[in-house]
Amino acid sequence: MSQTAAEPLKFAYWVPNVSGGLVISSIEQRTSWDIDYNRKLAQIAEASGFDYALSQIRFTAGYGADSQHESVSFSHALLAATEKLRVIAAVLPGPWHPALLAKQIATISQLTNGRVDVNVVSGWFRGEFAAIGEPWLDHDERYRRSEEFIRAIRGIWTEESFNLRGDFYRFNDYAVKPKPIGQPQVFQGGSSRAARDMAARVSDWYFTNGNTPEGLRAQVDDIRTKEKTFGKSWRTKVGINSFGIVRETEQEAKAVLNEIIEKAIPQAVQGFHHEVQNAGNASPEREGNWAKSTLEDLVQYNDGFRSNLIGTPEQVAERIIGLKRAGADLILLGFLHFQEEVEYFGKHVLPLVRELEANEAQASIAAE
Ligand SMILES: Cc1cc2nc3c(=O)[nH]c(=O)nc-3n(C[C@H](O)[C@H](O)[C@H](O)COP(=O)(O)O)c2cc1C
Repeated sequence: MSQTAAEPLKFAYWVPNVSGGLVISSIEQRTSWDIDYNRKLAQIAEASGFDYALSQIRFTAGYGADSQHESVSFSHALLAATEKLRVIAAVLPGPWHPALLAKQIATISQLTNGRVDVNVVSGWFRGEFAAIGEPWLDHDERYRRSEEFIRAIRGIWTEESFNLRGDFYRFNDYAVKPKPIGQPQVFQGGSSRAARDMAARVSDWYFTNGNTPEGLRAQVDDIRTKEKTFGKSWRTKVGINSFGIVRETEQEAKAVLNEIIEKAIPQAVQGFHHEVQNAGNASPEREGNWAKSTLEDLVQYNDGFRSNLIGTPEQVAERIIGLKRAGADLILLGFLHFQEEVEYFGKHVLPLVRELEANEAQASIAAE
């Protein structure tokens, strides 16, 4: 059976635990980063068919985001308010030591029936590291540390007594008790050569910025080749970011995109552009997350417009299937008006996606 027919796509939404919304624009965004709004949003998402919520980690203000709730504690609060939803807590090696994270997640897993996962990010915001006195490693060194971090947390969760003599971390017969319930899934964010190699060696999930199906396919092919080279025994799943603007007509949806861009906050977008030169674009081969982003793309922090989920429910469902054919296992979504649009998406887009997936499955069986 083809990849498209094999498994239903998963859906995730960005948790707005950072102020200012997900676009650097003065357009109205009916959203909030407070806990009451977020609890209700998580409940709406769960009822609307979303599988995951992804929190963000930021330590300081910058580029349209003044205030931020910490991701692990915030994720726990959302898990406590829901029953089925999995919540992915974003963490940064450096500020987090793997012993602390492994222990925190083991406890949260125990308290929430094993619904917590982690997104290990490697850092793009140099000013944030400076503000908290954390050394700023080179791009590829950050990934070497992240890889060791992932090996450490997985080892702590799975082995009775964990030992590691690494370049960044050391463990001596360390035993976490209790262990998590089931295995927390390890996601990672980033698109550079180093990010793809790390995915092909250790991660369960690879999250990448918004992209076209062709752009996504090139990354997935690369990861599949590298998995073989490295002898990885499981398939890395792939999640792609997108910014959903789904409206009754295509014109309406496009008008919203135009308004977001017209009302972009130039100074903040320029500042963000400058900052990400230090991150994605600074990787040695220049294939990082923001290497190809235009200023318009950067109005959405993670190139979400490039995935083009902007149009009618039918158009968006078709394009989601296009991303699935290119190798996506999960679609990550941000919205302007989170609660309203998560619900609309669940009602009007998800059933169409499921219908298209069922058709593809039937066609694939018929062809066998
Ligand atoms: C879906 C997604 C979520 C991310 N979340 C965060 C985050 O919460 N905090 C953060 O500092 N970086 C986050 N990042 C940034 C990445 O971890 C990484 O530092 C950045 O993409 C540059 O990587 P690259 O040079 O390998 O492309 C995220 C990236 C992606 C694709």
